[in-house]
Amino acid sequence: MAEFRLPKNSVPNKGQAHTSPTPNADKSRTKTFKVYRYDPDTGENPRYDTFEINLDECGPMVLDALIKMKAEQDSSLTFRRSCREGICGSCSMNIDGRNGLACTTAIEDVKGTVQITPLPHMEVIKDLVPDFTHFYAQYSSIKPWLQTETPQPAGKERLQTPAERAKLDGLYECILCACCSTSCPSYWWNSDKFLGPAILLQAYRWLADSRDEITGERLDQLEDPFRLYRCHTIMNCANTCPKGLNPAKAIAEVKKMEAERVL
Ligand code: SF4
Ligand code: SF4
Ligand code: FES
Repeated sequence: MAEFRLPKNSVPNKGQAHTSPTPNADKSRTKTFKVYRYDPDTGENPRYDTFEINLDECGPMVLDALIKMKAEQDSSLTFRRSCREGICGSCSMNIDGRNGLACTTAIEDVKGTVQITPLPHMEVIKDLVPDFTHFYAQYSSIKPWLQTETPQPAGKERLQTPAERAKLDGLYECILCACCSTSCPSYWWNSDKFLGPAILLQAYRWLADSRDEITGERLDQLEDPFRLYRCHTIMNCANTCPKGLNPAKAIAEVKKMEAERVL
């Protein structure tokens, strides 16, 4: 399980925590949420705010609770979300010490107070919104699109056999939520140079694609002591992925391709 760590610029100031109780909440079905707050415009240190939510008046997921807090108690509470069904990857955050998607994490699966912070070891823009600029730049660096050298077959798509297509299973489902990369100790300490599990899984997605024709160039780009080889098989990534994917296995496949190439 991902060890909980506060985001880089976070220094919780317990003295500033405050409580925003819901009026008339049914105490028997009330859940307490401790939510990380940070607003760069105020110049104040980060803090935790406490919200009480009546579960009888709230949907079942952590995202439902956040939406209710924002709608009814504090409209300045800031977080990302879009699909609310585990497809877009927007609502990734740390819930009860574990990275995951707020829209697919059931409130009742968390015992006691639900503590919510941004993804660990990323700069925070505001509240639960981390800065993905570097993550997306790393994604862009692996050229995540099909690249070919031969002309397209006349009047046809580039086809795959069912077996070739099956090699993309467990890879194409990645929603780039960054739960894995931000749970990886190697990525915490070397994210400036190590690509991290999410981007390396994506890199393997294109290496494994039978239609892609720049495999050598892709392997050249990854052959680097930091970009690929900072993975030490700690496996936090596979334990954390909310889509049940295994980035560590994908990374091992890339290392195997590199090894077999030089033999
Ligand atoms: S297996 Fe590699 S990428 Fe995954 S958490 Fe461990 S070091 Fe990070
Ligand atoms: S591999 Fe899983 S945890 Fe990592 S970015 Fe993709 S979906 Fe998210
Ligand atoms: S809102 Fe899209 S994955 Fe949670």
